[in-house]
Amino acid sequence: MESKRNQICNDEDILSTLEKRAGLNLFNHDLVEYQGFWYPDMAVVTRTLSAQRQFQAQSSDVFLCSAPKTGTTWLKALSFAIVSRTTVVDDGSTAANPFHSKLPHGCLPLLEISVTNRDPNNPLIATHLPFSSLPESVSGCRIVYVCRDPKDTFVSMYHFLAKLATSRNMEPVHLDKAFELFCNGESFYGPYWDHVLGYWNASLEQPDRILFLKYEEMMEDACFYTKKLAEFMGYGFTLEEEKKGMVEKIVEMCSFENLRNLEVNKDGKVGKNGPWEMKNNLFFREGRIRDWENHLTPDMAKHMDFITHSKLSGSDLNLLYHKK
Ligand code: A3P
Repeated sequence: MESKRNQICNDEDILSTLEKRAGLNLFNHDLVEYQGFWYPDMAVVTRTLSAQRQFQAQSSDVFLCSAPKTGTTWLKALSFAIVSRTTVVDDGSTAANPFHSKLPHGCLPLLEISVTNRDPNNPLIATHLPFSSLPESVSGCRIVYVCRDPKDTFVSMYHFLAKLATSRNMEPVHLDKAFELFCNGESFYGPYWDHVLGYWNASLEQPDRILFLKYEEMMEDACFYTKKLAEFMGYGFTLEEEKKGMVEKIVEMCSFENLRNLEVNKDGKVGKNGPWEMKNNLFFREGRIRDWENHLTPDMAKHMDFITHSKLSGSDLNLLYHKK
């Protein structure tokens, strides 16, 4: 009891000393720095700390990890469809397809929000936490990480925040300012490059436990990566399933076009009545590789590539996507 009380005081001390900064965020929210990364607000940091203290992972859990705007929605959809395919895909009916009634984000818990009342048939948990901040008990679980060219990640985040601000009658941040903040690492779970490197280095050390994916490569061969993802998670496809076209069915069901055009993703909302309530359609914008070409000047692209090269120097990771 005494030690619990001390821990609460200790946690309150930790939280009260954290640095806050406007950063790339909605104007009425400050980013909060925690363990070397910028979080969307204090509530998320508080819940992260509590997950770090209390969350007990099961060895069968599979963590879907990503920095925001790198393909999280897609990875969640594919993974959920893979693990629940016998009920949600085989059937083929609209009623059985969960994506008709909710965003893929609603199909699995988010570690830094809440992991209570879990469905025992669903081993998936998502998180935006950096690798170095994952709760200790996750160290025995499989992890899938998705990343994306920083230029497209930035452009996606800029539009996401601009639309969110406009929907609340708030002034959207200017592109140049947003760019500067992202490059400084002052964005959701930024610095982006550090987020990616944490998982990349861990995947090199433990390749059997951590699957490192790139959005662009998945876009180029979605079937190949869907099979790879399924196998890695322990849900590999049987030959019979492959012959019946199960892989293609899942890819189709989770495609950008398909998800974006569902009624629930045109009109529905997530986080209802909370500080981050937003329309589902904010998660579906272009769904393309190299859309940055339409938004960044050549100088901006050069500058961000320079940062990417500097940050990743000494690692074998290539985050920049080049047309084939
Ligand atoms: P753009 O803004 O470049 O279009 P996240 O899911 O991590 O928030 O990332 C959002 C990005 O993924 C957006 O990129 C969005 O359009 C894209 N996206 C969403 N669903 C997708 C899908 N099923 N397939 C491919 N891309 C998808």
